[in-house]
Amino acid sequence: MVRTVLVTGGTRGIGASIAIAFKDAGYSVAANYARNDEEARKFEKENGIPVFKFDAGNYQGSCDAVEEVKIKVGPVDVLVNNAGITRDAPLHKMEMVQWSEVLRTNLDSCFNLSSAVINDMRERHFGRIINVSSINGQKGQFGQTNYAAAKAGMIGFTKALALENASKGVTVNAVAPGYIGTNMVRAIPEEIINEHILPQIPAGRLGEPIEVARCVIFLASDEAAFINGSTLTVNGGQYLI
Ligand code: CAA
Repeated sequence: MVRTVLVTGGTRGIGASIAIAFKDAGYSVAANYARNDEEARKFEKENGIPVFKFDAGNYQGSCDAVEEVKIKVGPVDVLVNNAGITRDAPLHKMEMVQWSEVLRTNLDSCFNLSSAVINDMRERHFGRIINVSSINGQKGQFGQTNYAAAKAGMIGFTKALALENASKGVTVNAVAPGYIGTNMVRAIPEEIINEHILPQIPAGRLGEPIEVARCVIFLASDEAAFINGSTLTVNGGQYLI
């Protein structure tokens, strides 16, 4: 039986790598995106993965999109809450809109999508929800009170949702990537990366998106059925807990 996966923010960066890895592993994949039509169309054409445009921060839009995925691809067996943005600034310079945009896209989206799929998963007695958190939700990061709060929130959300659904064959886990070589990280000023970030990574390099994707594929597998409420860190040893 082929399982269906929905990856939010699935056409670029870590999300694209996750979507492609699921396709390579034999899943039916739906990739969400919110804004960049050109990149999304290119991704769809190159990888043969259908794309679905909706704002994961919008509740009704997310519910409607899950229904559309159900009709066009299949009922969602695996949900990867990956959509995320940064609006970095130290709190003393941060505007309310920088706070609310990040909380909405990164954390509200987990509620929106999870609540849209959870009843079906409970009825089918199978489901996997994998939340892409961040090392910065575990250890904090200069300039990211908004992002760290959202990513730490995802870890609490993961644990509570795991407890609620463990008896129904549904697992809910998080992965916490460190600094991965995507556009999001490459947008950080080079001197900040060289002076403040790379020296903190014992592996001495940025991670590759596929190194995160492999963890997500594992957590979605039948073999990972007894892993529930966990956070798997993928960070080159940057933050050892
Ligand atoms: N640790 C310690 N000090 C830092 C620092 C850090 N990470 N970053 C900046 N500083 C220091 C600067 O060196 C500077 O010190 P001096 O005044 O002594 O020169 C001071 O703080 C002010 O820095 P800026 O001039 O850069 O301040 P700014 O207001 O212009 O910019 C900022 C602040 C936008 C947060 C900028 O520092 C920045 O982009 N930092 C990187 C934030 C970051 O790592 N974001 C992660 C994005 S990737 C991601 O989030 C993916 C993931 O999950 C890992």
